[in-house]
Amino acid sequence: MAEKILMCPPLYFDIKYSINPWMNTDIRIDAKKAFEQWQNLKSILQDAGAEIKIIDPQEDVPDMVFTANAALIYKNKAIISRFKYKERKKEEKYFFDWFNENGYETLILPENISFEGAGDALYLNEKIFAGYVPRTDISAHTCISELLNIPVTSIELATNSFYHIDTCFCPLSGGYLIYYPQAFDSYGNKVIEANVPEEKRIKVTEEEASKFSCNAVNVGKTVVTNLTTERFTKELEKKGFFHIQTDLSEFIKSGGSAKCLTLKI
Ligand code: ARG
Repeated sequence: MAEKILMCPPLYFDIKYSINPWMNTDIRIDAKKAFEQWQNLKSILQDAGAEIKIIDPQEDVPDMVFTANAALIYKNKAIISRFKYKERKKEEKYFFDWFNENGYETLILPENISFEGAGDALYLNEKIFAGYVPRTDISAHTCISELLNIPVTSIELATNSFYHIDTCFCPLSGGYLIYYPQAFDSYGNKVIEANVPEEKRIKVTEEEASKFSCNAVNVGKTVVTNLTTERFTKELEKKGFFHIQTDLSEFIKSGGSAKCLTLKI
């Protein structure tokens, strides 16, 4: 069965506020370019074998295009995000309604806990690896573990720039992991090293991390990222993956890239 991915067209995408270090409200988005870049990503994922589902964009929420933050999905369950910042809180209702209408069992966390969905919770070897501090509270990790009955390993995000775990940590099929070690403290690195054998770890450089190379979408053996280095492509190929790069510069202005624009459902 084809892997299903939820995406939201960037019709109202813009930088209207700044809630992460990449966002600068003086920098404008080229709407036409953003739409083309988004369409290209969508076509690449379809060609790689994914089935793309669409949620309608809404005018008052310019970041809704980043569907990774809609929810955390496990089988038929969707734990809807509780956004940290009021600017994105309005998205919760739209995502809740979409999952309800599309046959998911929608689950919500207590109101005072922040949790930003698959942006901060990723599956690796039957476990969830979840980030905390910038956007997601560590208390959310216990809640999601109890709701889904899956072990959750908490990893602190040690920098402001890599504020969602999916900006610096990307599990791939076969137990491989792309990650940026400098986004974690020494304890976080120990946790990663204890869970993923050395030969399955693909470390990115500072340059690659800032090009959002960890923010990758993996469909089968294909790995899709923003434009990055030749070195990175070679590393992926050594592990048996096929790398496709596509320009996502307009979305980088908002602190997001390929993975943030998608949600596996
Ligand atoms: N501007 C968005 C925000 O700050 C970008 C979200 C990126 N999403 C992600 N899953 N890393 O919330």
